[in-house]
Amino acid sequence: MAILWQEQVCLLTGATGGIGKAVASKLAELGVSLILTGRNTDKLTALLESLPGQHTLVCADITTEEGRDKVVAVCHDRHLSMLINSAGITETGDFKTIPAPRIDALLMTNLNAPIALTQRLLPILQRARQGYVINVGSTFGSIGFACHSVYCASKFGLRGFTEALSRELANSNVSVFYLAPRATQTDINSAAVVSMNQALGNQMDPPGRVADALVEQLQRNKARWFIGFPEKLFARINGVLPELVDRALAKKLPTIQRFLTSATKEKLS
Ligand SMILES: NC(=O)c1ccc[n+]([C@@H]2O[C@H](COP(=O)([O-])OP(=O)(O)OC[C@H]3O[C@@H](n4cnc5c(N)ncnc54)[C@H](OP(=O)(O)O)[C@@H]3O)[C@@H](O)[C@H]2O)c1
Repeated sequence: MAILWQEQVCLLTGATGGIGKAVASKLAELGVSLILTGRNTDKLTALLESLPGQHTLVCADITTEEGRDKVVAVCHDRHLSMLINSAGITETGDFKTIPAPRIDALLMTNLNAPIALTQRLLPILQRARQGYVINVGSTFGSIGFACHSVYCASKFGLRGFTEALSRELANSNVSVFYLAPRATQTDINSAAVVSMNQALGNQMDPPGRVADALVEQLQRNKARWFIGFPEKLFARINGVLPELVDRALAKKLPTIQRFLTSATKEKLS
């Protein structure tokens, strides 16, 4: 069934991020009514003023129960039909040096919060004619990548959650999607990560490419969508023949460590 964009009321988490702003702009152009969330009121207000159409902003930290209460209350009043979980943070470097509070914050933001929000908003989405949940994962939700251990854990978890929920709701009016961008030009990536990607020859997409992919994925009703070649091929190979990817990435390990281990990271960021 074609999506009636102008009938959609969409909660977009991470709306003020690089990918979030591009998605907000694309959906607003299509006539979607947006509920924009992030933790910074000034950034949210600037985004709201830049968009065509009528939208709502909610300033909230989605890792807290209080923040989620605020978001859910607005979604209830606005008759939500679409949820896009895009808020995310990252952490790079040797696993042993990552402070425990950063591990907790990353898993709370990238995994626990989208799961909790989805659970709380599902009853509202089920009241819509057709409901949509789109979880923004990553290529690193399918490929374990050195110096990204906790981020990979969060995105592997999000991919598993999305797949299981999508199958659980297969006979319902709520469709669940997983969108996996590859490296994208946003502030989530430190200068060290950008330099590492250049050294490895990894492409970095403009955020608009992710927004276009999200719209195409929904229009084509594809449960999973991986952006970019060769990343989408590696994600598949890693699923069936991970030893091949082990060998390919082992050759890249000295380069990854040169940019992302603690000795060099500080100089570059
Ligand atoms: N950029 C990439 O290379 C890339 C590649 C693959 C996947 N992704 C995924 O794409 C998504 C968007 O990333 P991005 O590149 O747009 O990152 P970004 O530019 O750093 O934006 C992150 C967004 O998340 C919000 N956020 C973070 N913690 C939050 C919290 N506790 N409560 C509410 N909002 C919070 C931030 O808002 P405030 O900090 O203002 O609250 C901001 O709007 C993430 O899930 C990321 O993992 C990104």
